[in-house]
Amino acid sequence: MSSMAAAAAVFCLCVGITLITHSAESRIPLTQVDAGLRAVAQRAMLCVVVGVSLLVAGWLYRLLFCPLELVRPLHDVGYVAEDGRSKARAANEMRRRRRVGDVPPVYPNGWYRVLHSPMLHRGEVKSVSFLGEQLAVFRGQDGKAYVLDAYCPHLGANLAVGGRVVGNCVECPFHGWQFRGDDGKCEKIPYADKVPEIAKVRRWPSCEVNQQILVWFHCDGAEPQWSVPEKQEITNGQWVYRGRSEHFISAHIEDLSENAADASHLGHLHAAGFTSGSDPLHYNSQTWDCVQHNWKIQWEPESEPNSHCSKMLINHSLTVFGHHFSLLDMQVVARQVGPGLVFLQIDDRFFGRGVILQCVTPVEPLLQRVSHTIYYQSNVPALVPKFFLTVESIQVHGFDSHQ
Ligand code: FES
Ligand SMILES: [Fe+2]
Repeated sequence: MSSMAAAAAVFCLCVGITLITHSAESRIPLTQVDAGLRAVAQRAMLCVVVGVSLLVAGWLYRLLFCPLELVRPLHDVGYVAEDGRSKARAANEMRRRRRVGDVPPVYPNGWYRVLHSPMLHRGEVKSVSFLGEQLAVFRGQDGKAYVLDAYCPHLGANLAVGGRVVGNCVECPFHGWQFRGDDGKCEKIPYADKVPEIAKVRRWPSCEVNQQILVWFHCDGAEPQWSVPEKQEITNGQWVYRGRSEHFISAHIEDLSENAADASHLGHLHAAGFTSGSDPLHYNSQTWDCVQHNWKIQWEPESEPNSHCSKMLINHSLTVFGHHFSLLDMQVVARQVGPGLVFLQIDDRFFGRGVILQCVTPVEPLLQRVSHTIYYQSNVPALVPKFFLTVESIQVHGFDSHQ
């Protein structure tokens, strides 16, 4: 429901409740209530009915037609508030205790998602934390997304905080230097005739595929060595956006892929029904034991030129009170593409077709931003993909993200 409709509903409710209260507080005996007062009471009831109807209609509209957005802050997933400390404090204590130590490279080479395309409008610039760096991601007047280091080489202002897009450049909010999205070179200094050659900021290779803006990282600065597979159905609009979730996991990025490829963990960790919720303290409780997920998976790497990919075939079934509902059996193909992307492809004779894009982007050495974005056949009711996204989020938030 739009904020206007919500405001109208709340206004109607307030007017109605005020009128009812006013009528109830009237000192005139009920038998002497005149016709005018009765009319006021009727109008009050009408306001309440209209207000409640608007609220219900808004809720139904959101449920049936709007994308589902489950964006959670760092401390909201995987941390337990105990011994009188808040979840936020638990998360901060964990960050302080964290040591990188002797581990594989914390930023493997590959493509990483930084933004959902609709979040960046033409002429807009956004600040993004990425691989321990700060980026300025902006959309030029040509409609292309560009990615530069956020900090200005002049005196260090953040280009994404108060900076503005001019043509296909971003202008520094401090002294107005303008940097080209194409190569990061300074094109104009408003108070100088000449621009020094060294006035440039780092440009990051980027692409926009499947309605995601992605950035390439290579430890030696090499240009992209493979490209992000495009889902034609998303590009041509057959599959539409039905929602996304975003949360953080405190772990090495490699842990996530290794955990996913470990077939046996599914049967142990993900058997608890989605009805158990995602609270790590409760999902093993007996209350919802009646619902169980069953998994069979098979994992295999791909050969050249796709040695950066692997495939997992997942057979999922659901039992309720020990009864197997074969109609709910599903086969999902999870294709890992490089360290930061997974395509969860759903192709079901009953529920239709779609994909969940799971993207893992390191924010700091041992901190990952994990997003799931679902695109689904436009003729399948939105409730179906929203249900899948919710179940996927419960499984990943509650189980794989536990610290
Ligand atoms: S700090 Fe950016 S132009 Fe001076
Ligand atoms: Fe898992």
